[in-house]
Amino acid sequence: MHIHPSILSADFVNLESELGSILNADAYHVDVMDNHFVPNLTFGTQMVEGLQRVTKRDLDVHLMITDVDTHGPKYAELGVASVTFHIEASTNPLSLIRDIRTRGSKVAAAVKPSTPVAELAELMPELDMVLVMTVEPGFGGQKLIESTIAKVTQAREISRSKGLEIAIQVDGGVTEENIASLARAGADTFVAGSSVFKAVDRNRQIDLLRTLAQQAARG
Ligand code: DX5
Ligand code: ZN
Repeated sequence: MHIHPSILSADFVNLESELGSILNADAYHVDVMDNHFVPNLTFGTQMVEGLQRVTKRDLDVHLMITDVDTHGPKYAELGVASVTFHIEASTNPLSLIRDIRTRGSKVAAAVKPSTPVAELAELMPELDMVLVMTVEPGFGGQKLIESTIAKVTQAREISRSKGLEIAIQVDGGVTEENIASLARAGADTFVAGSSVFKAVDRNRQIDLLRTLAQQAARG
């Protein structure tokens, strides 16, 4: 069970010290938005390169950008641990997956709440992780859309039916109230932005989320 705090909820002017406040994280989730694929703008390659310099922790880069076929591989080039692209944005996902992997990063594909997970079925053998968005991408602090939990179950069923040990990530509105149901549905990697950054003790919140997910998965 992995907890990846989203630094979208951090104080952007003090990112280095913000990273220092979430050291119990398993990786840092970095939301790249281009104000086109989603109506919000965040970081680009320069910022991600800077983040790589100030932390040894894995960066889990979530690309919410339209021209991901061109720009996706540039993030892998920086040496980040994993690159996630949206299936809705790629015109040639298989070649993108291979491009990213050749450059040394793990690869994940994401689906928005309205995109069926079945669209990822054929790509699964090539992927390290599937990201089931549990809110409409673009902003932190939203409420999880309940109907997306069934998509997590479906993603786990598809991966099992193919005999794959793929990671399943959920992102958006993850809290201590819903993490158990997400873990029972088959998620093992949890992005949490506001629930971690709003907590008085962020590291304790990360540990709490992980423990709740582990207990739920054990049954
Ligand atoms: C939303 C981003 C998320 C977001 C999650 O588009 O992909 O990573 O930061 O934030 P919370 O946990 O606050 O919903
Ligand atoms: Zn994200």
